[in-house]
Amino acid sequence: MKIDAVLSPAELPALAKRDLRDATCVVFDVLRATSTFVTALHHGAKAIVPVSEIAEALALRQKQPGLLLGGERDGVRIRAGQTGGINFDLGNSPREYTPEKVRGKTIVSTTTNGTRALRACTGAQTVLAASFLNLTATAQFIRRLQPAQIVLVCAGTRENIATEDVLAAGALGEMLIRWGETTGGPKREQNPQRSGSRVRSPHQNADYEISDSVETALEAWRKAKFNLFVAVSDAENARRLLAIPELRDDVAFCLRPDVYNLVAALGRDGAIRILI
Ligand code: MLT
Repeated sequence: MKIDAVLSPAELPALAKRDLRDATCVVFDVLRATSTFVTALHHGAKAIVPVSEIAEALALRQKQPGLLLGGERDGVRIRAGQTGGINFDLGNSPREYTPEKVRGKTIVSTTTNGTRALRACTGAQTVLAASFLNLTATAQFIRRLQPAQIVLVCAGTRENIATEDVLAAGALGEMLIRWGETTGGPKREQNPQRSGSRVRSPHQNADYEISDSVETALEAWRKAKFNLFVAVSDAENARRLLAIPELRDDVAFCLRPDVYNLVAALGRDGAIRILI
């Protein structure tokens, strides 16, 4: 099994052109799109439809008036002034997506980086929306699925790498590798034929071939994992949220591990639903 990571949104156009037919892409936008999507699904939302533009969201709502409109621009809820008169029902704070508001609803969500990263993966066999909130459930699913390749996709912040996404990718990578070790003991060996290092697992004869970008994410995670909040709150995206009084609690909310035991997948119809 090959594990690769896309650490920067600058790599997304190249990812969209790659042959991903045998790949599982795992998209992380920890602050906050994918954390918000999994929270909404956990609280009973039927589906989330991620779209790039406000106009696309409005057009869908016109066709289906029961849809909720969610998302952000510059981190905050989209207001009538940006839409020609319609206030969005929800922003992009996961704490807004309570069972009372979202149960049984389909939500059209327009965010910037999260949506762009999901779209870059549409050629993949499986596309998962992941976060710290559903990390172990996602990793367990991938372990059972055993895809030929896994791509950990970090959505980033605007055009930049986002620390929290890289850390989540490292955490998931570490889990997959550790499980390989405990179920049979893969031995890490340098493979001079390849740019990355290779972990050979006798378990189910599985091979993990790890790219340098995954190594970078693993290293970042190993350094940060015992003080995750501090590592993340120094980073750009968290600093922005921490400076907005009504959004500051989103940071700690999104860094909680394994609060939801669910796997969220993007379907061929463009909607994210609970897979298991
Ligand atoms: C995004 O998709 O760019 C983010 O989730 C932005 C945010 O709401 O924090």
